[in-house]
Amino acid sequence: MRPFTYEQGRLCVDKVPVDDVVGGVGTPAYVYSLDAMAAAYRTLQEAFAEFSPEIFYSVKANSNLAVLRRLRSLGAGFDVVSGGELTRVLAAGGDPARISFAGVAKTAEELELSVKHDVIVHVESADEVPRLQEAAAAQGARVRFGIRINPGVKVDTLVHMQTGSDRAKFGVVPQVARAIVDRVAAGEFPDLRLAGVHMHVGSMIPNPGDMVRAAETLVEVLSYGQGRGLTGMRRLDLGGGFPISYGPMDEAPDVPVPADFAAALAPLLRSADADLVLEPGRFVAGAAGALITRVMLNKDPAGRRMVVVDTGMHHFVRPALYQAGHQIVPVVQAPGAGPTEVVGPICESTDRLAPAAELPLLRPGDLLAVLDTGAYGMVMASNYNNQPRPPEIVVEGGRARVARRRETWQDQLVFEE
Ligand code: LLP
Repeated sequence: MRPFTYEQGRLCVDKVPVDDVVGGVGTPAYVYSLDAMAAAYRTLQEAFAEFSPEIFYSVKANSNLAVLRRLRSLGAGFDVVSGGELTRVLAAGGDPARISFAGVAKTAEELELSVKHDVIVHVESADEVPRLQEAAAAQGARVRFGIRINPGVKVDTLVHMQTGSDRAKFGVVPQVARAIVDRVAAGEFPDLRLAGVHMHVGSMIPNPGDMVRAAETLVEVLSYGQGRGLTGMRRLDLGGGFPISYGPMDEAPDVPVPADFAAALAPLLRSADADLVLEPGRFVAGAAGALITRVMLNKDPAGRRMVVVDTGMHHFVRPALYQAGHQIVPVVQAPGAGPTEVVGPICESTDRLAPAAELPLLRPGDLLAVLDTGAYGMVMASNYNNQPRPPEIVVEGGRARVARRRETWQDQLVFEE
């Protein structure tokens, strides 16, 4: 579902040549197809259509306002993890009643902001419930909340992306969730309404069965609550984790698709008395984006092919942080392909985008695209080495526009005296 294809040897995004898209802006630059994000959103929605899911896009994957606005226009709600993300969603016109906030350590200010806007708060520890009650009482508000449950399922994904094993810091174990249910049923938190249960067991989940096992635990807690008279407890939020393929452009995807997850979950969902919520991040945004960069130098130490480009771990940290593999392709196809190490300008030896990308012979000035960087790309970028962060260009209906400008050296001085 990548919007990036070759047309007569030129890399295009939604059929618009990438060199034209970055022409007036320069490199490095993130480029996103909003239409591809919309298509991915619909794919997920259609796969689960039988269960009329509410889709709360996970803002941490890509929080550009243009992305949020486009998803809002499709009817998406939003999963946020901080007051900053919440502020962004509100700025993008997101419906506050369709925002949920999950975070391991929410500050008093974040709880206050959530209560003020009637956001659904996913508590991640038992201690958080009285804090939320206090925040609700302080504003004379009724607050909906969910319990993030850690179902103790170790998903077979990169260890960095496991969030639901019994050693994870996220959520509460099922016994604690039941204890919270009991306290709510006993009337201990008069200003809170328990809306349901939540989980996110990991990103890039390779086996739908892992999600099913975890969801079974959630359904048990949900029925337990309903059995205790909490009939408003209906939200079954299964989190995100739907994978995308990071493989070569000409190879078939090597990961399960949303329909596989829907089929695996169907028996459980049919039996549960619940409203399904999904929180995709990567699946919506990942394949829709590329980071466009320019070759600065050919290093060629000891005959190896090594190019230095004008972006690196500061703009795109996944390869350095997780050893994640991303395809790097030429913007204009050329002969002489061979394994090429692609490194950035940062003063760290981990600043390497690929150890051996299959690339033609390159000259300074040639453009490359680091694919599948629409999710967890710009949102994880930093100013390390005081490098400005790149602009974000969005393409919609075949037209490109700058959605976020390039930072400048001067921008980096504004926070200091
Ligand atoms: N819901 C919650 C509560 C989450 O914590 C996450 C992601 C999602 C939904 C969306 O998950 P997705 O559908 O994108 O897998 N930085 C890492 C990924 C960390 C994901 C954290 N939580 C990466 O670059 O792969």
